[in-house]
Amino acid sequence: MGRNPRPQHFLVVGLRRLVETIDMANEPYFPGLEGVIAGETAISSIEGELRYRGYSVSELAGSATFLEVASLLLHGELPTSETLADFQSVLSEAAELPDPVRTLLEEIPVHVDSMDVLRTGVSALAQFDPQCDEEGRDADLNKATRLLAQIPLIVAARYRMMQGYPPVESKPELGFAANLLWMLTGKEPSLLHERAMDVSLILYAEHEFNASTFAARVVTSTGSDMYSAITAAIGALKGPLHGGANERVLEVLKEVQEMGDAEAWVREALAKKRRIMGFGHRVYKNGDPRAVILRGYCRELAEESGDMEMEEIADTIERIVRTEKGLPPNLDWPSARLYHAMGLEPEVFTPLFVVSRVVGWAAHVLEQSESNRLIRPRSRYNGPAKRKFVPLAQRD
Ligand code: CMC
Repeated sequence: MGRNPRPQHFLVVGLRRLVETIDMANEPYFPGLEGVIAGETAISSIEGELRYRGYSVSELAGSATFLEVASLLLHGELPTSETLADFQSVLSEAAELPDPVRTLLEEIPVHVDSMDVLRTGVSALAQFDPQCDEEGRDADLNKATRLLAQIPLIVAARYRMMQGYPPVESKPELGFAANLLWMLTGKEPSLLHERAMDVSLILYAEHEFNASTFAARVVTSTGSDMYSAITAAIGALKGPLHGGANERVLEVLKEVQEMGDAEAWVREALAKKRRIMGFGHRVYKNGDPRAVILRGYCRELAEESGDMEMEEIADTIERIVRTEKGLPPNLDWPSARLYHAMGLEPEVFTPLFVVSRVVGWAAHVLEQSESNRLIRPRSRYNGPAKRKFVPLAQRD
C-alpha cells in the first residue's frame, strides 16, 4: 500500500510550479554567462593568480614538466618519481593508433581543417577503446591517459601528411614535449625548443570554466561518456574567439610583415573596428599571466635564431592595442610566435592546444561525473508574442 504524501512533498511540488511560472523577463540575465558562477571546481582557480590544484602556474612553468602537471590535474597530487615513471610507461604503451583510425586520417582530403580532422579522429578512437562504455573513475582515468597518448599521434600524423611527409615513429624515450616536436618535424629538438614547448603545454593545460571545458561538463552532466565530452570540447575550442585564435595570430603577424608598417596596420585595424586576435580576455582584464611567461620564451627563441623581426612587430602592436583599447595580450599572442619560431605551420597551433588541454577537460569530466547535476539553465524568450496558428491552406 502506498504511503500518504508528506507535507514536504507538497512543498516541493509547489516550488516546482513556482519555478515554472517565474517571470523570466525580470530575472537577472548575463549575456555570455559573464561573471556567473556555474559550478564548483577543485581543479584550478584564477583569482589573484592562476593555480592548478593550489600550485601557482608560474611555479609549475618554472620547475615542473608537462607530464608532472598532467598527472597533478588528472590524479589530484603531484607525482613522485615512481608514480611519474609509471604514468610515463602507461602513456608509452598507449601510444599507438588503431589501423582503421590511421586509414581514416589518410582518407580525409588534405584541405580539411586540422581541428575538424582531430575532432573526427578522437571520436573514432572511442570505437577502439576497450573501456569506452565502462563507467567509473578508473575507467575514465584510463580513457584520459589513452587520449593524452593518442592525440599527439593524430596531430603529428595529420600535420606531416599536410606537409607532404610520411609519419615518423613516436620516440617516447625523448620525453613528451621533445617527442611531440620530433613527431611533427622529424628532427630531435634543441633543449631550448623542448623546454619552450613543454612550458606552452603547461600553460595551455587547464583554465577552469572556459568555453570548451564548460562544453565538456555540459555533455558529461547528461550522463554521456568521456569521448563525447572531449569531442564536443574540441568543437568548442576550434572557434576563433577561443583556441582558434592562436593560428589567426600568425596570419595577422604575417600580414603586418608583408605590409612592413606595424603601427599603420594596427591603427587602421582598430579604426575599422577589427578584432585583433590574441588580445582581450573574458576574465583577465589587466593581463593574462600566462602570456607574460611565454613571451620570455619567444624572446629567447628569437635571440637564438638572430631574427627579432616578429618580436619587434609584436611589440608595436601590443603597445598600440594597450594604449588605444586598454587590451592586454592573451596566451595565444605569444604562443603563435613561439610555435612559428620552432618552424611549425599555423594549421597545427590549435591542435597543439588540444594536445595539452585534453588533460584539463578530462579532469573536469571526472569531477563533473563524481558530483553530477544535469546542467540545464533557462533562457529569456524574446520571440513573437502568443499568436494563433493558421492552417497551411489559409496562409497565402
Ligand atoms: N580586438 C579589438 N577589440 C576587442 C578585442 C580584440 N581582440 N577584444 C575585445 N575587444 C573589444 C570589443 O570590441 C568590445 O569593444 P566595445 O565595447 O567598444 O564594443 C570590448 O573590447 C569588449 O569585448 P567583448 O567581446 O564584450 O569582451 P569579451 O569578454 O566577451 O571577449 C574575447 C573576450 C576573448 C572573446 C575577446 O577579447 C576577443 O574576441 N579576443 C580575440 C580572440 C582571442 O584572442 N581569443 C583568445 C582568448 S584567450 C585564450 C583562449 O581561450 O584561447
